[in-house]
Amino acid sequence: MKVTVFENERVLARTLAVQIAATLGQNPSLVLGLPTGRTPIRLYHELGTLHHAGQADCSRATTFNLDEFVGVAPDDPGSYRTFMREHLFSRVNLDPARINFLDGSAADVDAECRRYEDAIAAAGGIDLQLLGIGTNGHIGFNEPGRELVGPTHRVRLKESTRRSNAGLFGGDPTKVPAEALSMGVGSILKAKRIVLIATGKLKARCVDRVLNGPITTRLPASFLQVHRDVELMLDTAAAGRLADRV
Ligand code: F6R
Repeated sequence: MKVTVFENERVLARTLAVQIAATLGQNPSLVLGLPTGRTPIRLYHELGTLHHAGQADCSRATTFNLDEFVGVAPDDPGSYRTFMREHLFSRVNLDPARINFLDGSAADVDAECRRYEDAIAAAGGIDLQLLGIGTNGHIGFNEPGRELVGPTHRVRLKESTRRSNAGLFGGDPTKVPAEALSMGVGSILKAKRIVLIATGKLKARCVDRVLNGPITTRLPASFLQVHRDVELMLDTAAAGRLADRV
C-alpha cells in the first residue's frame, strides 16, 4: 500500500480534491465510491470550491455512497443522503440521475442490497473508491467480527459506531438506528483504485495495524492489503505511529 503523509488535514483535502478534479478531466465518466463521516467533509468542500472555480466538472460522473441507515428515508435530516447533499451534492454539478444511494427505507432491504450490487456492475464498477476508517478499523459499515460479508448487506452497528454518528440524530446515540445497509468488503475490493483518508491521532493505532498487522476480520480495513492499488492519505497525527516505519 502506498502511504502519503500531509502536514495537515487541509493540505490533504486540497491535494486529493485537485487529483480527483484532474482524474475527472481525463475520464469525465468516472465512477466514484464515496464515504460520509467527518473525515471527507473538507475534501467535499474543496471539490465544491474547485467546481465553482471552473476546475472540476462532475456532470458526467457517477457516484455510489457506501452506506445508509436502515429505516431512515432519503430526505430524513439524519440520513447519509442528507449529509451528502449538504457537503457535496449541492456544491458540484453531479447529475442527480447518476447519484446512487442505498435506500434504508426500502420495504425489502435484501432486495435493495442486490439492486445496489447490480447498479454498481451496470455502471462498469467503481473506478475510484474513497474511504474513511473507524477507530475500530471498520470501512463502510463493515464492523469487526468473526466473519465479514462480501457483497452489499444489512449490518448491526456497534455501540461505538452509533455513538460516533449521534451528531446526525440530535446528539442522542439511542436515536441512531441500530442497523444499516453497507457495501461489503468484497464490493469495496472490486474498485479499481482505493484511497483511504485518515486524520487525527485517534486513527493512528488502527492505521498502523492496517499497514503492519495481520489481515483479519477483527480489523476489516486490513483486507485492503490484498488490493493492488490502494493509497493511504494521512495527516501527521494519523501517521503518528508509523514514524519509525515509513
Ligand atoms: C461512512 C463510512 C465510515 C466512516 C468511518 C469514519 O460512510 O464509510 O466507515 O468512514 O466511520 O468516520 P469519521 O470520518 O467520522 O471518523
